[in-house]
Amino acid sequence: MFTSCTEKERFIFKKIAHGGENLQTSCYVIGGFVRDKLIGRNTSDADIVCVGDGIKLAHEVAAQFSPQPRVAFFKNYGTAHMRVDGLDIEFVGARKESYRYHSRNPEVAPGTLHDDQNRRDFTINTMAISLNKDDYGQLIDPFGGIADISEKRIRTPLDPAQTFSDDPLRMMRAIRFASQLQFNIDEQTWQGIKDNVERIQIISQERITDELNKILMSEKPSVGLDLLYQCGLLHRIFPQMVDLAGAEYKEGWGHKDNFYHTLLVVDNIAAHTADLWLRWAAVLHDIGKPATKKFEDGHGWTFHGHEVVGARMVPKIFSRLRLPQDSKMQFVKKMVELHLRPISLTKENITDSAIRRLLFDAGDDIDALMTLCKADITSKNKKKVRLYLDNFEMVQQRLHDVEEKDRIRNWQPPITGEMIMDIFGISPCRKVGDIKNAIKDAILDGVIENNYDSAYDYMLIKAKELNLEPVK
Ligand code: CTP
Repeated sequence: MFTSCTEKERFIFKKIAHGGENLQTSCYVIGGFVRDKLIGRNTSDADIVCVGDGIKLAHEVAAQFSPQPRVAFFKNYGTAHMRVDGLDIEFVGARKESYRYHSRNPEVAPGTLHDDQNRRDFTINTMAISLNKDDYGQLIDPFGGIADISEKRIRTPLDPAQTFSDDPLRMMRAIRFASQLQFNIDEQTWQGIKDNVERIQIISQERITDELNKILMSEKPSVGLDLLYQCGLLHRIFPQMVDLAGAEYKEGWGHKDNFYHTLLVVDNIAAHTADLWLRWAAVLHDIGKPATKKFEDGHGWTFHGHEVVGARMVPKIFSRLRLPQDSKMQFVKKMVELHLRPISLTKENITDSAIRRLLFDAGDDIDALMTLCKADITSKNKKKVRLYLDNFEMVQQRLHDVEEKDRIRNWQPPITGEMIMDIFGISPCRKVGDIKNAIKDAILDGVIENNYDSAYDYMLIKAKELNLEPVK
């Protein structure tokens, strides 16, 4: 096992082993580090469990290094942390846990290594490696974690009903691991999740969202999102996404299942960006469709304005999921609102002014928007896909050309709201916005030139229409 560790890691484990020996305390590397090494994933965290006092061991281990790493410890939890050479090491004493029904905070008592392995979530996370003299480097795998890794299986070590009822966050974790590692969830474990979905309500939204974000950051997020949907968890944690599901037929007209379309878009975008917020934009791009769905005689199903309705839903969804309300949310909102615009520019005879408008509205996020729009092409017809992509190439070229010429991306009109209030001696009111927008539109539409003097003259004309005279 230690053969897959780096030289640095092996050196650190030797030091930990010395610390344990000095205190006559058995210690083991356990959990995620062992799992990830066996799978061949990168990891920068190592959990050390000892049969004794984890904080005491951490201090003894720190003394083995020169210079000594700082030990941060939490008496209440009996845990200690240090960072050595980029490796985050967490120390804890082995424990038995029992849970109360309404809380995921367990009652903790000291225990053996086996007790400690017993209380863990999945077999692949229960494996430990001895750091003790007698059997240094030996894998201790009481629940068949190795076999489950080779079978690519997520399975609870105990009865799933107990594991999930003890800590319902583990249902999210099972699905997150399935998505991250592209593993399957064992049948009984899956049944255990389906039986316990209701229990997710005792978990804080922050922890749920943390797992959701990890699912979104996996290579194929659709795996996790679909599992969340299939077991019923998604209905509880993110009902707006469930509303996308289903295809309806009427009078021979059908529409696509927007839930599965969204999953395809998310997978497509995941192949092109590691930006979590652009991935969120893919999740939410059609979120306004259920609310705008209509059947129009002779036309079939329409979703007019779904991009505007969807954009309006973003702040609420972010707030409910405890996602940030800052510029990241604004970015996602903007992506949702603009996601149809580049497609509308693939038609013939598109004017420079339409291109300028998109550049102005998208600003620096224009490339992200194009990435989203390309990901939104999910047709199974290869010819159609090629045609759409070629059209996008053309739009991208036009965007590039117009930007070169007019530099619109980060442009602001030469006359601001403050200037208008000052010139006409008025306080903030609708007229200020109307004049400002009229100037902006005139420049974007090429009616006037993009400079202060032309904008000033145009402002005077517009102001006159509104019965305003300059006071200076
Ligand atoms: N664990 C658990 N139940 C949880 C969370 C964690 O049993 N709800 C156990 C698992 O054995 C896990 C270990 O605690 O391996 C460490 O947890 P954590 O660091 O949260 O997860 P990792 O498994 O290391 O994976 P990741 O870092 O990807 O979250």
